[in-house]
Amino acid sequence: MDLVIRGATVYDGTGGPPCLADVGVSGGTIAAVGDLTREAGATEVAATGLALAPGFIDVHSHDDFAVFLTPEMDFKVAQGVTTTVVGNCGLGAAPHEAAQRYLPFFGADAHRDRLPAWTTYADYLDAVDRHPPSLNVAVLVGHGTLRFDVMGNDRRPPSDRELAGMLDTLAAGLDAGCIGYSSGLVYEPGRYSQTDELVTLAQEMAQSGGVYASHMRNEGDGLLDAVAETIRIGADGGVPVQISHHKASGRSAWGLVHDSLALIERARSRGVDVTADQYPYTAGSTALFAVLQNHEERAHGVGDVEWERITLASAPRHPEWERRSIADLAAELHADPVEAARAVVDAEGYGAVVVMETMNEDDVRTVMGHPSTMIGSDGIPTFGGKPHPRLYGTFPRVLGHYARDAGVFTLAEAIRRMTAMPAAKFGLAGRGAIEPGAAADLVLFDPATIDDTGTYDEPRRYPAGVTAVWVGGTRVMHDGAHTGERPGRALRRARD
Ligand code: ZN
Ligand code: CU
Repeated sequence: MDLVIRGATVYDGTGGPPCLADVGVSGGTIAAVGDLTREAGATEVAATGLALAPGFIDVHSHDDFAVFLTPEMDFKVAQGVTTTVVGNCGLGAAPHEAAQRYLPFFGADAHRDRLPAWTTYADYLDAVDRHPPSLNVAVLVGHGTLRFDVMGNDRRPPSDRELAGMLDTLAAGLDAGCIGYSSGLVYEPGRYSQTDELVTLAQEMAQSGGVYASHMRNEGDGLLDAVAETIRIGADGGVPVQISHHKASGRSAWGLVHDSLALIERARSRGVDVTADQYPYTAGSTALFAVLQNHEERAHGVGDVEWERITLASAPRHPEWERRSIADLAAELHADPVEAARAVVDAEGYGAVVVMETMNEDDVRTVMGHPSTMIGSDGIPTFGGKPHPRLYGTFPRVLGHYARDAGVFTLAEAIRRMTAMPAAKFGLAGRGAIEPGAAADLVLFDPATIDDTGTYDEPRRYPAGVTAVWVGGTRVMHDGAHTGERPGRALRRARD
């Protein structure tokens, strides 16, 4: 044994009651759980009074570039996250040319020289292994990137040849070990696709068991139609479905989550494997470009727009705009808010990222309490600015604020939603569990104090209460500080 964590309250990820046990680790794998005797040479960690859980799986991330640009990934591992699922919302890492368009969104334009070279998904996965970050990386193929690669931002269905090109790239990605594909149907170019295109791509995955994860076409008044479309893609494609960041956005949509959850339940009872993920805040965050485009084209995909509740999180060329609302900037410019938003987009392009206060607290709790919901941060790892605090705080906030303090669910159930449940859904074999033979991805925390500590003004704060984090048996966080270790690797799914 290399490591024994002694006397912790062990939550094994299944959602059942915890037990007091020692956990022994050998060669990156959990070797034993129980009453373990001392062994010469094993590192002992005293954990009495602390909770030990499988490392958290962030099923909804945008860490595709961050794993190379900030390989210690401190904003994730400090939360206890040991695996990040990249490639969400249709924004994929390959083909590289098409993917590079997203660099400004992450404020990473100036850092493109620091990225390793890759072209395909296979190259991307290899690059993760050659330049390992501190946590594991599982990869979704991005529909928007596939589509842009073959047909740019054209507002039409693909030709047969273009569709064949998208299918080839998807198949190659799945062969390389990608775990599914994602769409972002409020964003260019995903929003120009129709349901049958998405079904055809899903059918390509039916053999492999890949997941279809979608940022749906509408999270406002049209939420229910969007959920129905998503379920149809899963049913007709013969694949499991993941609704990304399940929410009702904008006042006129508040309360619709009761109906969207009912649609999920009905589909599940028909045998469609549909689940969702959620970040635990009433504000969202995205590119101002997309908000403005949905507003101007009356697509309402992001819900009702209230400009006084939309605040700039990052504006690399105009940091003085950060934390100011669009309505406030408009007053200063003597412009109407739409003109002001357009001026900001003209100045910053995709670099203008906003935080939008659009959700209702009751809805957040209703979605969280439902057994179809797992946890995903949707954090946008921007270089500068003031990112939405979900980037640093999602998992501790669910465990502290929502499980312990608000009683939305038990701690054991909260942990299941961030460990065993996502591991099963996304085909991450041997992860998300504390049992002999599982990977030694572990988080040790104080259940009495764990919580998010960030705010919208000061989002870059590590959470409270996370004592230690191990990835593959190597310690990456030690009493609130990163150890500098980078034991992560690419997790590839066998295509069966
Ligand atoms: Zn999204
Ligand atoms: Cu996202």
